[in-house]
Amino acid sequence: MEFDFLVIGSGSAGLTFALEVAKNGTVGIITKKNKAESNTNYAQGGIASVLDQSDSFEAHVNDTIIAGAGLCNEEVVRSIVSDGPTVIRNLVEMGANFTRENGKLHLVKEGGHSKSRIIHADDMTGREIENVLLEQVSRHPNVTVLEHHFAMELITEHHLGHKVTKYTEDKHCFGAYVLNHQNDKVERVLAKATLLATGGIGQVYLHTTNPEVATGDGLAMAYRAKARVCNMEFVQFHPTSLYKSDTETNSFLISEAVRGHGAILRNSSGERFMPDYDKRAELAPRDIVARAIDDQMKKRGDDYVYLDVKHIPKYKILKYFPNIYAQCLEEGLDMTSDYIPVVPAAHYVCGGVWTNIDGETSINGLFAAGEVAHTGIHGANRLASNSLLEAIVVSGKASKKAIEYAANSSINQSIPDWDDSGTVNTEEWVLISHNKRELRQVMSAYVGIVRSDLRLQRAFRRTHLLYEEVENFYTRTKVSVPLCQLRNMIAVAYLIIKSASERKESRGLHYTTDYPQSSDEWLRDTIL
Ligand code: FAD
Ligand code: SIN
Repeated sequence: MEFDFLVIGSGSAGLTFALEVAKNGTVGIITKKNKAESNTNYAQGGIASVLDQSDSFEAHVNDTIIAGAGLCNEEVVRSIVSDGPTVIRNLVEMGANFTRENGKLHLVKEGGHSKSRIIHADDMTGREIENVLLEQVSRHPNVTVLEHHFAMELITEHHLGHKVTKYTEDKHCFGAYVLNHQNDKVERVLAKATLLATGGIGQVYLHTTNPEVATGDGLAMAYRAKARVCNMEFVQFHPTSLYKSDTETNSFLISEAVRGHGAILRNSSGERFMPDYDKRAELAPRDIVARAIDDQMKKRGDDYVYLDVKHIPKYKILKYFPNIYAQCLEEGLDMTSDYIPVVPAAHYVCGGVWTNIDGETSINGLFAAGEVAHTGIHGANRLASNSLLEAIVVSGKASKKAIEYAANSSINQSIPDWDDSGTVNTEEWVLISHNKRELRQVMSAYVGIVRSDLRLQRAFRRTHLLYEEVENFYTRTKVSVPLCQLRNMIAVAYLIIKSASERKESRGLHYTTDYPQSSDEWLRDTIL
Protein backbone atom coordinates (compact mmCIF):
# COMPACT_ATOMS: atom_id res chain seq x y z
CA MET A 1 0.00 0.00 0.00
CA GLU A 2 1.17 3.54 -0.71
CA PHE A 3 -0.05 6.95 0.39
CA ASP A 4 1.44 10.44 0.24
CA PHE A 5 0.89 10.66 4.00
CA LEU A 6 0.71 7.85 6.53
CA VAL A 7 -0.95 8.60 9.87
CA ILE A 8 -0.53 6.08 12.70
CA GLY A 9 -3.35 6.59 15.20
CA SER A 10 -6.87 8.01 15.01
CA GLY A 11 -7.10 10.19 18.12
CA SER A 12 -7.22 14.00 18.16
CA ALA A 13 -3.63 14.38 16.88
CA GLY A 14 -3.87 11.88 14.01
CA LEU A 15 -7.26 13.07 12.79
CA THR A 16 -6.38 16.78 12.92
CA PHE A 17 -3.21 16.16 10.91
CA ALA A 18 -5.03 13.92 8.40
CA LEU A 19 -7.67 16.56 7.66
CA GLU A 20 -4.99 19.15 6.87
CA VAL A 21 -2.63 17.05 4.76
CA ALA A 22 -5.58 15.56 2.83
CA LYS A 23 -5.80 18.94 1.06
CA ASN A 24 -2.48 18.05 -0.61
CA GLY A 25 -2.50 14.29 -1.24
CA THR A 26 -3.69 10.85 -0.33
CA VAL A 27 -3.78 9.88 3.35
CA GLY A 28 -3.87 6.47 5.00
CA ILE A 29 -4.85 6.39 8.68
CA ILE A 30 -4.06 3.12 10.35
CA THR A 31 -5.52 2.39 13.75
CA LYS A 32 -5.26 -0.75 15.81
CA LYS A 33 -8.89 -1.15 16.92
CA ASN A 34 -12.11 0.66 16.05
CA LYS A 35 -11.35 4.15 14.82
CA ALA A 36 -12.85 5.93 17.85
CA GLU A 37 -10.90 3.88 20.42
CA SER A 38 -8.28 6.26 21.82
CA ASN A 39 -7.40 8.27 24.91
CA THR A 40 -9.04 11.22 23.18
CA ASN A 41 -12.39 9.46 23.25
CA TYR A 42 -12.33 9.19 27.07
CA ALA A 43 -11.19 12.74 27.86
CA GLN A 44 -13.58 14.21 30.37
CA GLY A 45 -12.62 17.63 31.79
CA GLY A 46 -12.02 19.55 28.58
CA ILE A 47 -9.59 21.78 26.70
CA ALA A 48 -7.80 24.70 28.31
CA SER A 49 -7.95 27.97 26.39
CA VAL A 50 -8.02 31.66 27.23
CA LEU A 51 -11.48 32.91 26.28
CA ASP A 52 -12.60 35.14 29.13
CA GLN A 53 -11.89 38.88 29.39
CA SER A 54 -10.55 38.44 32.93
CA ASP A 55 -8.05 35.82 31.74
CA SER A 56 -4.85 36.28 29.70
CA PHE A 57 -2.33 34.25 27.70
CA GLU A 58 0.25 35.36 30.24
CA ALA A 59 -1.74 33.76 33.08
CA HIS A 60 -2.21 30.48 31.17
CA VAL A 61 1.52 30.45 30.31
CA ASN A 62 2.43 31.09 33.97
CA ASP A 63 0.13 28.36 35.29
CA THR A 64 1.60 25.89 32.77
CA ILE A 65 5.16 26.81 33.74
CA ILE A 66 4.47 26.61 37.49
CA ALA A 67 2.94 23.13 37.11
CA GLY A 68 5.88 22.10 34.87
CA ALA A 69 8.30 22.60 37.79
CA GLY A 70 11.12 24.29 35.85
CA LEU A 71 11.27 22.06 32.78
CA CYS A 72 8.75 23.67 30.39
CA ASN A 73 10.06 25.18 27.17
CA GLU A 74 8.60 28.67 27.50
CA GLU A 75 8.61 29.42 23.78
CA VAL A 76 6.65 26.23 23.08
CA VAL A 77 4.21 26.98 25.92
CA ARG A 78 3.54 30.49 24.52
CA SER A 79 3.04 29.21 21.00
CA ILE A 80 0.55 26.48 21.99
CA VAL A 81 -1.35 28.62 24.51
CA SER A 82 -1.78 31.48 22.04
CA ASP A 83 -3.32 29.12 19.45
CA GLY A 84 -5.98 27.98 21.97
CA PRO A 85 -8.80 30.31 20.90
CA THR A 86 -8.31 29.37 17.21
CA VAL A 87 -8.48 25.66 18.08
CA ILE A 88 -11.76 26.16 19.94
CA ARG A 89 -13.22 28.30 17.14
CA ASN A 90 -12.31 25.67 14.51
CA LEU A 91 -13.83 22.85 16.57
CA VAL A 92 -17.03 24.82 17.05
CA GLU A 93 -17.15 25.56 13.30
CA MET A 94 -16.76 21.83 12.60
CA GLY A 95 -19.80 21.23 14.81
CA ALA A 96 -18.43 20.54 18.32
CA ASN A 97 -21.26 21.07 20.74
CA PHE A 98 -19.51 22.43 23.84
CA THR A 99 -21.48 23.20 27.00
CA ARG A 100 -22.81 26.77 27.06
CA GLU A 101 -24.46 29.01 29.64
CA ASN A 102 -26.47 32.03 28.55
CA GLY A 103 -25.18 31.41 25.01
CA LYS A 104 -21.52 31.65 26.05
CA LEU A 105 -19.07 28.74 26.31
CA HIS A 106 -19.10 27.53 29.90
CA LEU A 107 -15.64 27.72 31.50
CA VAL A 108 -14.51 25.56 34.44
CA LYS A 109 -11.48 25.54 36.71
CA GLU A 110 -9.14 22.57 37.23
CA GLY A 111 -6.09 21.97 39.42
CA GLY A 112 -3.19 24.40 38.85
CA HIS A 113 -5.29 26.87 36.81
CA SER A 114 -5.60 30.36 38.28
CA LYS A 115 -8.71 31.07 36.15
CA SER A 116 -11.74 29.21 34.88
CA ARG A 117 -10.60 28.36 31.34
CA ILE A 118 -11.61 24.77 30.60
CA ILE A 119 -14.02 24.44 27.68
CA HIS A 120 -15.99 21.18 27.89
CA ALA A 121 -18.86 19.11 26.52
CA ASP A 122 -20.50 18.02 29.78
CA ASP A 123 -18.04 15.44 31.17
CA MET A 124 -17.45 13.77 27.79
CA THR A 125 -15.38 16.39 25.97
CA GLY A 126 -13.13 13.86 24.24
CA ARG A 127 -16.00 11.94 22.72
CA GLU A 128 -17.43 15.14 21.26
CA ILE A 129 -14.08 16.10 19.69
CA GLU A 130 -13.38 12.59 18.41
CA ASN A 131 -16.85 12.36 16.81
CA VAL A 132 -16.56 15.73 15.12
CA LEU A 133 -13.11 14.93 13.68
CA LEU A 134 -14.13 11.42 12.57
CA GLU A 135 -17.20 12.84 10.87
CA GLN A 136 -15.01 15.25 8.85
CA VAL A 137 -12.50 12.50 8.02
CA SER A 138 -15.20 10.09 6.86
CA ARG A 139 -16.42 12.67 4.34
CA HIS A 140 -12.96 13.35 2.87
CA PRO A 141 -12.33 11.59 -0.45
CA ASN A 142 -8.54 11.61 0.02
CA VAL A 143 -8.57 9.78 3.37
CA THR A 144 -8.65 6.00 3.84
CA VAL A 145 -9.11 4.72 7.40
CA LEU A 146 -7.80 1.21 8.02
CA GLU A 147 -9.24 -0.11 11.29
CA HIS A 148 -7.75 -3.17 13.04
CA HIS A 149 -4.35 -2.46 11.50
CA PHE A 150 -1.46 -2.53 13.95
CA ALA A 151 1.76 -0.61 13.20
CA MET A 152 4.68 -2.85 14.17
CA GLU A 153 7.82 -1.06 13.00
CA LEU A 154 8.72 2.24 11.38
CA ILE A 155 10.64 1.67 8.16
CA THR A 156 14.03 3.39 7.99
CA GLU A 157 17.45 2.82 6.37
CA HIS A 158 17.79 -0.07 8.83
CA HIS A 159 15.36 -2.09 6.65
CA LEU A 160 17.55 -1.40 3.61
CA GLY A 161 20.44 -3.10 5.36
CA HIS A 162 22.17 0.04 6.71
CA LYS A 163 23.15 -0.34 10.32
CA VAL A 164 21.87 2.65 12.31
CA THR A 165 23.29 2.81 15.79
CA LYS A 166 22.72 6.34 17.13
CA TYR A 167 19.89 8.80 17.30
CA THR A 168 22.24 11.52 15.99
CA GLU A 169 22.74 9.76 12.63
CA ASP A 170 20.91 11.11 9.58
CA LYS A 171 17.92 8.82 8.90
CA HIS A 172 14.64 8.81 7.00
CA CYS A 173 11.26 7.23 7.61
CA PHE A 174 9.67 5.54 4.57
CA GLY A 175 6.45 4.27 6.20
CA ALA A 176 5.68 1.33 8.47
CA TYR A 177 5.23 -2.43 8.59
CA VAL A 178 1.63 -3.01 9.60
CA LEU A 179 -0.09 -6.14 10.85
CA ASN A 180 -3.57 -6.52 9.39
CA HIS A 181 -5.66 -8.35 12.02
CA GLN A 182 -8.24 -9.41 9.49
CA ASN A 183 -5.84 -11.70 7.61
CA ASP A 184 -2.87 -11.78 10.02
CA LYS A 185 -0.56 -10.58 7.23
CA VAL A 186 2.17 -7.98 7.66
CA GLU A 187 1.77 -5.28 5.02
CA ARG A 188 4.31 -2.72 3.86
CA VAL A 189 2.67 0.71 4.01
CA LEU A 190 4.86 3.25 2.25
CA ALA A 191 4.52 7.02 2.41
CA LYS A 192 6.42 10.22 1.68
CA ALA A 193 5.77 11.52 5.20
CA THR A 194 4.59 9.67 8.33
CA LEU A 195 2.90 10.99 11.47
CA LEU A 196 3.22 9.06 14.69
CA ALA A 197 0.09 9.78 16.75
CA THR A 198 -0.22 6.61 18.82
CA GLY A 199 -1.04 8.24 22.17
CA GLY A 200 -0.09 7.11 25.67
CA ILE A 201 1.42 4.33 27.75
CA GLY A 202 -0.96 3.91 30.70
CA GLN A 203 -1.28 0.14 30.25
CA VAL A 204 2.29 -0.29 31.49
CA TYR A 205 0.82 0.19 35.01
CA LEU A 206 -1.77 -1.91 36.88
CA HIS A 207 -4.16 0.95 37.60
CA THR A 208 -4.66 3.27 34.66
CA THR A 209 -7.33 5.56 33.27
CA ASN A 210 -6.12 4.74 29.74
CA PRO A 211 -7.96 2.29 27.48
CA GLU A 212 -6.38 -0.98 26.30
CA VAL A 213 -4.87 0.60 23.19
CA ALA A 214 -2.47 2.73 25.27
CA THR A 215 0.50 0.36 25.23
CA GLY A 216 3.15 2.87 24.09
CA ASP A 217 3.65 1.29 20.64
CA GLY A 218 4.68 4.53 18.97
CA LEU A 219 7.28 5.33 21.61
CA ALA A 220 8.76 1.86 21.41
CA MET A 221 8.82 1.88 17.59
CA ALA A 222 10.45 5.32 17.53
CA TYR A 223 13.05 4.27 20.09
CA ARG A 224 13.90 1.15 18.07
CA ALA A 225 14.17 3.34 14.96
CA LYS A 226 16.71 5.44 16.94
CA ALA A 227 14.61 8.57 17.27
CA ARG A 228 15.45 10.89 20.13
CA VAL A 229 13.21 10.21 23.15
CA CYS A 230 13.11 12.33 26.29
CA ASN A 231 11.78 12.91 29.82
CA MET A 232 10.16 9.49 30.21
CA GLU A 233 10.46 9.61 34.01
CA PHE A 234 7.56 12.06 34.15
CA VAL A 235 4.49 9.82 34.25
CA GLN A 236 1.41 11.60 35.53
CA PHE A 237 -0.87 9.76 37.95
CA HIS A 238 -4.37 11.21 37.98
CA PRO A 239 -5.31 11.61 41.66
CA THR A 240 -8.89 10.43 41.37
CA SER A 241 -9.83 7.28 39.52
CA LEU A 242 -12.75 5.23 40.84
CA TYR A 243 -11.36 2.48 43.09
CA LYS A 244 -11.88 -1.12 42.03
CA SER A 245 -10.06 -4.23 43.17
CA ASP A 246 -9.75 -5.80 39.70
CA THR A 247 -6.89 -4.47 37.56
CA GLU A 248 -7.64 -6.26 34.29
CA THR A 249 -9.74 -3.40 32.94
CA ASN A 250 -8.94 0.30 33.06
CA SER A 251 -10.06 2.52 35.94
CA PHE A 252 -12.89 4.96 35.43
CA LEU A 253 -11.79 8.59 35.84
CA ILE A 254 -13.49 11.01 38.20
CA SER A 255 -12.63 14.25 36.42
CA GLU A 256 -10.57 16.93 38.09
CA ALA A 257 -13.41 19.26 37.10
CA VAL A 258 -15.36 17.65 39.99
CA ARG A 259 -12.76 19.12 42.36
CA GLY A 260 -13.00 22.30 40.29
CA HIS A 261 -16.64 22.42 41.39
CA GLY A 262 -15.67 22.06 45.05
CA ALA A 263 -15.25 18.33 45.76
CA ILE A 264 -13.24 17.52 48.90
CA LEU A 265 -10.77 14.69 49.53
CA ARG A 266 -11.18 12.82 52.84
CA ASN A 267 -9.28 9.95 54.46
CA SER A 268 -10.94 6.83 55.87
CA SER A 269 -11.72 8.72 59.11
CA GLY A 270 -13.61 11.30 57.07
CA GLU A 271 -10.96 14.01 57.67
CA ARG A 272 -10.11 16.52 54.96
CA PHE A 273 -6.34 16.24 54.42
CA MET A 274 -5.28 18.29 51.40
CA PRO A 275 -4.88 21.63 53.28
CA ASP A 276 -2.12 19.91 55.34
CA TYR A 277 -0.13 19.31 52.15
CA ASP A 278 -0.65 22.46 50.05
CA LYS A 279 -2.39 25.80 50.45
CA ARG A 280 -4.21 25.22 47.13
CA ALA A 281 -5.69 22.10 48.78
CA GLU A 282 -7.72 19.93 46.36
CA LEU A 283 -6.82 22.23 43.48
CA ALA A 284 -3.04 21.94 43.83
CA PRO A 285 -1.28 20.53 40.73
CA ARG A 286 -1.79 16.81 40.18
CA ASP A 287 1.63 15.60 41.30
CA ILE A 288 1.05 17.13 44.74
CA VAL A 289 -2.50 15.80 45.13
CA ALA A 290 -1.54 12.28 43.93
CA ARG A 291 1.43 12.14 46.33
CA ALA A 292 -0.70 13.34 49.22
CA ILE A 293 -3.27 10.61 48.54
CA ASP A 294 -0.48 8.03 48.24
CA ASP A 295 0.93 9.23 51.56
CA GLN A 296 -2.45 8.98 53.31
CA MET A 297 -3.06 5.49 51.93
CA LYS A 298 0.40 4.26 52.98
CA LYS A 299 0.31 5.85 56.45
CA ARG A 300 -3.13 4.47 57.20
CA GLY A 301 -2.83 1.16 55.34
CA ASP A 302 -5.88 2.02 53.22
CA ASP A 303 -6.62 0.98 49.63
CA TYR A 304 -8.29 4.28 48.73
CA VAL A 305 -9.38 7.70 49.98
CA TYR A 306 -12.75 9.36 49.46
CA LEU A 307 -13.96 12.15 47.23
CA ASP A 308 -16.87 13.98 48.81
CA VAL A 309 -19.33 15.91 46.63
CA LYS A 310 -22.32 15.59 48.94
CA HIS A 311 -22.36 19.34 49.62
CA ILE A 312 -22.65 20.18 45.89
CA PRO A 313 -26.32 20.61 44.83
CA LYS A 314 -27.62 17.53 43.02
CA TYR A 315 -28.86 19.54 40.03
CA LYS A 316 -25.25 20.71 39.41
CA ILE A 317 -23.88 17.19 39.51
CA LEU A 318 -26.55 16.00 37.07
CA LYS A 319 -26.00 19.01 34.83
CA TYR A 320 -22.19 18.97 34.59
CA PHE A 321 -21.28 15.34 35.31
CA PRO A 322 -24.05 13.15 33.86
CA ASN A 323 -21.63 10.48 32.66
CA ILE A 324 -19.68 10.26 35.94
CA TYR A 325 -22.94 10.18 37.91
CA ALA A 326 -24.30 7.35 35.72
CA GLN A 327 -21.06 5.35 35.90
CA CYS A 328 -20.94 5.64 39.72
CA LEU A 329 -24.59 4.52 39.91
CA GLU A 330 -23.65 1.47 37.85
CA GLU A 331 -21.05 0.70 40.51
CA GLY A 332 -23.72 1.01 43.20
CA LEU A 333 -22.75 4.53 44.34
CA ASP A 334 -24.98 7.58 44.34
CA MET A 335 -22.33 10.29 44.39
CA THR A 336 -24.81 12.89 45.61
CA SER A 337 -25.23 10.96 48.88
CA ASP A 338 -22.25 8.54 49.07
CA TYR A 339 -18.53 9.21 49.34
CA ILE A 340 -16.67 8.07 46.18
CA PRO A 341 -13.67 5.75 46.84
CA VAL A 342 -10.77 6.95 44.66
CA VAL A 343 -7.11 6.04 43.99
CA PRO A 344 -4.42 7.61 41.81
CA ALA A 345 -3.97 5.86 38.44
CA ALA A 346 -1.43 6.20 35.61
CA HIS A 347 -2.93 8.77 33.29
CA TYR A 348 -0.51 10.60 31.01
CA VAL A 349 3.14 10.50 29.97
CA CYS A 350 4.76 13.94 29.78
CA GLY A 351 7.88 12.66 28.03
CA GLY A 352 7.94 11.08 24.60
CA VAL A 353 9.42 11.22 21.14
CA TRP A 354 11.30 14.50 20.98
CA THR A 355 9.84 17.04 18.53
CA ASN A 356 10.13 20.75 17.91
CA ILE A 357 7.00 22.93 17.93
CA ASP A 358 6.32 21.83 14.33
CA GLY A 359 6.15 18.16 15.24
CA GLU A 360 9.43 17.32 13.48
CA THR A 361 11.31 14.42 15.12
CA SER A 362 15.02 13.63 14.84
CA ILE A 363 14.20 11.33 11.85
CA ASN A 364 13.56 12.95 8.45
CA GLY A 365 10.03 12.35 7.21
CA LEU A 366 8.81 11.25 10.64
CA PHE A 367 6.55 13.63 12.52
CA ALA A 368 4.99 13.07 15.95
CA ALA A 369 2.15 14.81 17.78
CA GLY A 370 -0.11 14.32 20.76
CA GLU A 371 0.69 12.22 23.79
CA VAL A 372 3.41 10.17 22.03
CA ALA A 373 5.44 13.34 21.49
CA HIS A 374 7.50 15.55 23.76
CA THR A 375 7.38 19.18 22.66
CA GLY A 376 8.40 20.71 25.99
CA ILE A 377 5.01 22.23 26.91
CA HIS A 378 4.41 20.02 29.95
CA GLY A 379 7.84 20.05 31.59
CA ALA A 380 7.94 17.83 34.66
CA ASN A 381 4.16 17.87 35.20
CA ARG A 382 1.31 18.54 32.77
CA LEU A 383 -1.25 21.17 33.67
CA ALA A 384 -4.77 19.72 33.44
CA SER A 385 -6.51 19.94 30.06
CA ASN A 386 -3.40 21.15 28.21
CA SER A 387 -2.93 17.88 26.33
CA LEU A 388 -5.87 18.00 23.91
CA LEU A 389 -4.79 21.56 23.19
CA GLU A 390 -1.20 20.50 22.50
CA ALA A 391 -2.29 17.52 20.35
CA ILE A 392 -4.47 19.67 18.10
CA VAL A 393 -2.10 22.67 17.83
CA VAL A 394 1.06 20.66 17.15
CA SER A 395 -0.54 18.23 14.69
CA GLY A 396 -1.82 21.27 12.77
CA LYS A 397 1.67 22.77 12.62
CA ALA A 398 3.19 19.36 11.75
CA SER A 399 0.80 19.05 8.79
CA LYS A 400 2.35 22.17 7.19
CA LYS A 401 5.89 20.81 7.55
CA ALA A 402 4.81 17.37 6.32
CA ILE A 403 3.25 18.92 3.20
CA GLU A 404 6.54 20.74 2.48
CA TYR A 405 8.53 17.56 3.14
CA ALA A 406 6.33 15.37 0.93
CA ALA A 407 6.53 17.87 -1.94
CA ASN A 408 10.27 17.17 -2.14
CA SER A 409 10.18 13.41 -1.53
CA SER A 410 9.14 10.31 -3.36
CA ILE A 411 7.98 6.88 -2.21
CA ASN A 412 10.94 4.58 -1.63
CA GLN A 413 10.13 1.54 -3.76
CA SER A 414 13.15 -0.49 -2.67
CA ILE A 415 11.75 -1.40 0.75
CA PRO A 416 11.60 -5.19 1.14
CA ASP A 417 8.53 -7.12 2.29
CA TRP A 418 8.36 -8.18 5.94
CA ASP A 419 10.58 -11.19 6.49
CA ASP A 420 9.12 -13.78 8.87
CA SER A 421 11.09 -16.76 7.59
CA GLY A 422 12.07 -19.20 10.32
CA THR A 423 9.19 -18.20 12.63
CA VAL A 424 6.36 -20.47 13.76
CA ASN A 425 2.83 -20.00 15.09
CA THR A 426 2.51 -20.13 18.87
CA GLU A 427 -0.07 -21.42 21.30
CA GLU A 428 1.81 -19.96 24.26
CA TRP A 429 -0.66 -17.14 24.98
CA VAL A 430 -0.32 -17.81 28.69
CA LEU A 431 3.34 -16.72 28.59
CA ILE A 432 2.35 -13.43 27.04
CA SER A 433 -0.46 -12.69 29.49
CA HIS A 434 1.64 -13.69 32.53
CA ASN A 435 4.62 -11.63 31.44
CA LYS A 436 2.32 -8.68 30.86
CA ARG A 437 0.82 -8.96 34.35
CA GLU A 438 4.28 -9.27 35.88
CA LEU A 439 5.52 -6.19 34.03
CA ARG A 440 2.57 -4.10 35.19
CA GLN A 441 3.02 -5.31 38.78
CA VAL A 442 6.72 -4.41 38.77
CA MET A 443 6.07 -0.96 37.32
CA SER A 444 3.31 -0.20 39.83
CA ALA A 445 5.28 -1.48 42.83
CA TYR A 446 8.66 0.14 42.07
CA VAL A 447 8.26 2.86 39.44
CA GLY A 448 5.02 4.54 40.57
CA ILE A 449 4.36 7.78 42.43
CA VAL A 450 7.24 7.33 44.91
CA ARG A 451 10.56 5.84 43.75
CA SER A 452 14.02 5.11 45.19
CA ASP A 453 17.34 3.89 43.78
CA LEU A 454 16.74 0.44 45.23
CA ARG A 455 13.23 0.16 43.80
CA LEU A 456 14.45 1.30 40.37
CA GLN A 457 17.34 -1.20 40.42
CA ARG A 458 14.95 -3.97 41.31
CA ALA A 459 12.55 -2.92 38.55
CA PHE A 460 15.42 -2.83 36.07
CA ARG A 461 16.53 -6.38 36.92
CA ARG A 462 12.98 -7.79 36.72
CA THR A 463 12.12 -6.04 33.44
CA HIS A 464 15.45 -7.00 31.91
CA LEU A 465 14.61 -10.66 32.48
CA LEU A 466 11.23 -10.13 30.84
CA TYR A 467 12.98 -8.35 27.97
CA GLU A 468 15.32 -11.29 27.35
CA GLU A 469 12.50 -13.83 27.46
CA VAL A 470 10.22 -11.87 25.17
CA GLU A 471 12.91 -10.93 22.61
CA ASN A 472 13.87 -14.58 22.38
CA PHE A 473 10.24 -15.58 21.88
CA TYR A 474 9.71 -12.77 19.33
CA THR A 475 12.54 -13.89 17.05
CA ARG A 476 11.11 -17.42 16.86
CA THR A 477 7.39 -16.68 16.67
CA LYS A 478 4.97 -15.36 14.03
CA VAL A 479 3.99 -11.83 15.03
CA SER A 480 0.70 -11.16 16.81
CA VAL A 481 -0.76 -8.04 18.37
CA PRO A 482 -0.50 -9.28 22.02
CA LEU A 483 3.16 -10.21 21.52
CA CYS A 484 4.06 -6.93 19.80
CA GLN A 485 2.23 -4.94 22.48
CA LEU A 486 4.04 -6.78 25.27
CA ARG A 487 7.38 -6.16 23.55
CA ASN A 488 6.50 -2.45 23.26
CA MET A 489 5.38 -2.21 26.89
CA ILE A 490 8.69 -3.70 28.01
CA ALA A 491 10.56 -1.12 25.89
CA VAL A 492 8.50 1.69 27.43
CA ALA A 493 9.10 0.35 30.94
CA TYR A 494 12.83 0.34 30.20
CA LEU A 495 12.66 3.98 29.00
CA ILE A 496 10.82 5.05 32.18
CA ILE A 497 13.16 3.15 34.52
CA LYS A 498 16.30 4.35 32.73
CA SER A 499 15.20 8.00 32.72
CA ALA A 500 14.06 7.84 36.35
CA SER A 501 17.40 6.29 37.36
CA GLU A 502 19.35 9.05 35.64
CA ARG A 503 17.54 11.91 37.41
CA LYS A 504 19.13 12.21 40.86
CA GLU A 505 16.60 14.68 42.27
CA SER A 506 12.85 15.02 42.82
CA ARG A 507 10.98 17.28 40.44
CA GLY A 508 7.34 17.43 39.35
CA LEU A 509 6.07 13.92 38.75
CA HIS A 510 9.39 12.25 39.53
CA TYR A 511 9.74 11.80 43.30
CA THR A 512 12.50 9.67 44.82
CA THR A 513 13.13 9.17 48.53
CA ASP A 514 16.91 9.12 47.90
CA TYR A 515 16.95 12.66 46.48
CA PRO A 516 13.81 14.33 47.86
CA GLN A 517 14.81 17.89 46.83
CA SER A 518 15.00 19.57 43.41
CA SER A 519 18.40 20.76 42.31
CA ASP A 520 19.34 23.37 39.67
CA GLU A 521 21.97 20.95 38.43
CA TRP A 522 19.09 18.85 37.03
CA LEU A 523 17.25 21.66 35.28
CA ARG A 524 17.54 19.81 31.98
CA ASP A 525 15.71 17.21 29.91
CA THR A 526 16.62 13.53 30.16
CA ILE A 527 17.48 12.45 26.63
CA LEU A 528 17.70 8.79 25.63
P1 FAD B 1 -4.98 9.03 21.40
O1 FAD B 1 -6.23 9.82 21.43
O2 FAD B 1 -4.75 8.09 22.48
O3 FAD B 1 -4.97 8.22 20.01
C1 FAD B 1 -3.98 7.24 19.76
C2 FAD B 1 -4.41 6.40 18.58
O4 FAD B 1 -3.34 5.57 18.16
C3 FAD B 1 -5.56 5.46 18.89
O5 FAD B 1 -6.42 5.48 17.77
C4 FAD B 1 -4.90 4.10 19.00
O6 FAD B 1 -5.72 3.02 18.71
C5 FAD B 1 -3.82 4.26 17.94
N1 FAD B 1 -2.68 3.35 18.07
C6 FAD B 1 -1.87 3.17 19.14
N2 FAD B 1 -0.91 2.28 18.84
C7 FAD B 1 -1.11 1.89 17.56
C8 FAD B 1 -0.47 0.98 16.69
N3 FAD B 1 0.60 0.27 17.07
N4 FAD B 1 -0.95 0.83 15.43
C9 FAD B 1 -2.04 1.51 15.03
N5 FAD B 1 -2.70 2.39 15.82
C10 FAD B 1 -2.24 2.57 17.06
N6 FAD B 1 -6.55 15.65 28.20
C11 FAD B 1 -7.08 16.89 28.19
O7 FAD B 1 -6.46 17.83 27.65
N7 FAD B 1 -8.28 17.12 28.80
C12 FAD B 1 -9.00 16.15 29.40
O8 FAD B 1 -10.09 16.40 29.90
C13 FAD B 1 -8.46 14.84 29.43
N8 FAD B 1 -9.13 13.84 30.06
C14 FAD B 1 -8.64 12.57 29.95
C15 FAD B 1 -9.38 11.51 30.49
C16 FAD B 1 -8.96 10.20 30.33
C17 FAD B 1 -9.77 9.08 30.92
C18 FAD B 1 -7.75 9.94 29.64
C19 FAD B 1 -7.27 8.54 29.44
C20 FAD B 1 -7.00 10.99 29.13
C21 FAD B 1 -7.43 12.30 29.27
N9 FAD B 1 -6.70 13.37 28.75
C22 FAD B 1 -7.22 14.63 28.78
C23 FAD B 1 -5.49 13.14 27.98
C24 FAD B 1 -5.82 13.20 26.49
O9 FAD B 1 -7.04 12.54 26.27
C25 FAD B 1 -4.77 12.56 25.62
O10 FAD B 1 -3.50 12.97 25.98
C26 FAD B 1 -5.00 12.91 24.16
O11 FAD B 1 -6.32 12.61 23.81
C27 FAD B 1 -4.03 12.17 23.30
O12 FAD B 1 -4.42 12.27 21.95
P2 FAD B 1 -3.59 11.50 20.86
O13 FAD B 1 -4.24 11.77 19.55
O14 FAD B 1 -2.18 11.82 21.02
O15 FAD B 1 -3.72 9.95 21.26
C1 SIN C 1 -9.84 15.29 33.97
O1 SIN C 1 -10.95 15.46 33.51
O2 SIN C 1 -9.58 15.30 35.17
C2 SIN C 1 -8.73 14.99 33.03
C3 SIN C 1 -8.16 16.23 32.57
C4 SIN C 1 -6.81 16.00 32.01
O3 SIN C 1 -6.24 14.92 32.13
O4 SIN C 1 -6.27 16.96 31.44
